[in-house]
Formats: sequence, structure tokens, C-alpha cells
Amino acid sequence: MSDALKTVAEEMLPAAEQELRAALNANQEPPDPFHSMLHYQMGWVDEQLNPAAHSGKGVRPLLCLLACQAAGGNWSQALPAAAAVELIHNFTLIHDDIQDASPTRRGRPTVWRIWGEAQAINAGDAMFAFAHLAINRLAERGVPAPLVVQATRRLDEACIHLTLGQHHDMRFEQRHDVTVAEYLAMIGGKTAALLSLSAELGALVAGRDPATVEHYAVFGRDLGLAFQMRDDILGIWGDESLIGKSAATDIATRKKSLPVLHGLAQSQELRRLYIQSDNGPGFVERVANLLDDIGAREFAEAQENAYSQSALHHLAAAAPQEPAATALHQLTARLLNRQS
Ligand code: IPE
Ligand code: IPE
Ligand code: MG
Ligand code: MG
Repeated sequence: MSDALKTVAEEMLPAAEQELRAALNANQEPPDPFHSMLHYQMGWVDEQLNPAAHSGKGVRPLLCLLACQAAGGNWSQALPAAAAVELIHNFTLIHDDIQDASPTRRGRPTVWRIWGEAQAINAGDAMFAFAHLAINRLAERGVPAPLVVQATRRLDEACIHLTLGQHHDMRFEQRHDVTVAEYLAMIGGKTAALLSLSAELGALVAGRDPATVEHYAVFGRDLGLAFQMRDDILGIWGDESLIGKSAATDIATRKKSLPVLHGLAQSQELRRLYIQSDNGPGFVERVANLLDDIGAREFAEAQENAYSQSALHHLAAAAPQEPAATALHQLTARLLNRQS
């Protein structure tokens, strides 16, 4: 099979980056200190504000543009929506790294580690507002005004869902009886809401009927659930040099990730370890070994696989057009079992 994903990504991702740079005023020289923090988070500059290439994978913009093309639309019309979802993603990362006390992201110090928490909160707020300005540019691309209003409303609804998920993620650190159903609701908010929105907005801009738009939304949701399950696996067994973030903090802060939920249900020793508040030396390694022994990784991988399959099932129901259909299949397959 030819690499449809590579071919379209090579065209779509640079176009999305151009839209993002315009949205964040990245073309003005030299950038002021306020904008520089945002450009650092986007991976365009290093700590000394020299040019850099440290962006994320671009999963959300790609999903949005591919969904638009698969739904029969002109993907360049969806570029403002693609930029908006990537800006929302980066806004949540700036705040999430404060919330999780994470020192590294994409292999570099997090924004709060360089500029302090107060400035990082402010930079995240700005990124959130820039996302709104970005999505409003849909009108400049000829998208009808009622669709622009609908897209903006869906963006805000997804943000509320996302912050609800983050609320539960933080609350669950203090609980050791979280159920799989509660976990699914939590990741359905913190991660799947934005992936779902990305695919939904693509189909919406393509001008499709509500039932088709919903198929894309559910495809994105299940892909997002599988995506977070993989993030949970990488948060314990990932190679830090590949994932670019700590593979210890999820356990140290007692995040209720999917492997841990399985562990807590299966192992009294893990429950005893998690209830004590003091970690002590070797705590993270001991927990990871225990999770290994009871097959927590295999459990989480089986769930990840099931949601990835379910995503493809919903994609098929949307009757996507080629070549984007094959590219969306390849994207789904590549995110499953990814190492970074
Ligand atoms: C990280 O998302 C946060 C989660 C929702 C798991 P990504 O893995 O998409 O982050 P980048 O943008 O590629 O760094
Ligand atoms: C993912 O959060 C969702 C958001 C950032 C909103 P996590 O805390 O699970 O993701 P990483 O592992 O820090 O990227
Ligand atoms: Mg988090
Ligand atoms: Mg985090």
C-alpha cells in the first residue's frame, strides 16, 4: 500500500503551521517577550528565542484536515479550524504541565519551568483566546457564517468537556477506588473531546449533514480514547528520550491511568503502596514492576486496541472518500502502539 498519510501530511502540516504562525503573529520581527512564550510552546524557538523545530506531532490538525477531505470538502478551507484545535491543545498543555508539576515536554523544559507558574498561566490564557481568533478566520475562507458560529460553539463546548476531564483527573489522584467507567468519562473529557472535535470540525466545514458529522465525531472520540490509553502506557513504560516527558510522574502523583486501575483491582500490595503518602526510594520502579507482573500493560493494550478498532468502525460508517480515507486508516494504525 502506498503511504497516503505521508503524502497528504507533507502537504497539510506545513499549511497548518503557516496558519498557526499567522494566528500567533509569528511573522513579526523580532518577537516580543509575550509572544515568544507562545512561540516556545509551539516549538518554533528555543529558550534563547533562536529558531527551533520542536513542534508536536500535529495529530489534531491532521485529523481535522483529513476529515474535511474525506467528507468531500476542500481541506484548505478547514485550516482555521485545524489551527484552532492545535492552539487549544497547546493551551491545555501549558496549564496541564503546571497542574501535573511536569518539568519536561517534548524533550525541553516546560513553559512554567522557564518563566514561572504565573506567567505560564497567563500564556495559556492568551493561547486560548488566540484559538478563538483563529477559528473566526473560517469566515475569511468562505465558510458560511452559521457554520462559523456552530464551529465556535462546539469549540467552547469541547473546552468545557476537556476541563471537566482535567478536574476529574486531578481529583482521582486522591482516590484509589476509581472505576473503569469513571476513567473512561475522565479521558473522554481530557483527551477525546478535542480529538473528537478535530474530526467533527473537518466534516462540518465540508458542509456535511448532522448524521455524517456525528460519525466523524465518534470516530475522533474513540481514536482519542485509544490515544490516551497509549499515553498512559507510555507514562509508565515509555522511553523518556522518545516521549520527551517523564515516565515517572504518573506513578509518583498516583494518576489513575488505565494500567494502574487494573493493578489496584488485582493487587492488594499495590493498594497498600498507593494508600501511603510517602513514596520513598524505588517507589516508582517497584510499582512499575508490580504492574508488569500482573499483566497491567497487556490489559491496557487490549483496551487501546478495542477502541482503535471501534474508531475504524465509525469511520467506515461515515463512508469517507479517498485518498483521505486510507490516510485516516494509516493515522489510526500508527497511533496504536506508538512509541512517542
Ligand atoms: C499529549 O498529546 C497530551 C495528551 C492528550 C495525551 P500529544 O501526544 O498529541 O502531544 P504533542 O502535541 O504531539 O506533543
Ligand atoms: C492529557 O493530559 C490531556 C491534557 C493535557 C488536557 P496528561 O497529563 O495525561 O498528558 P501528558 O502525559 O502530560 O502529555
Ligand atoms: Mg494531566
Ligand atoms: Mg500531564
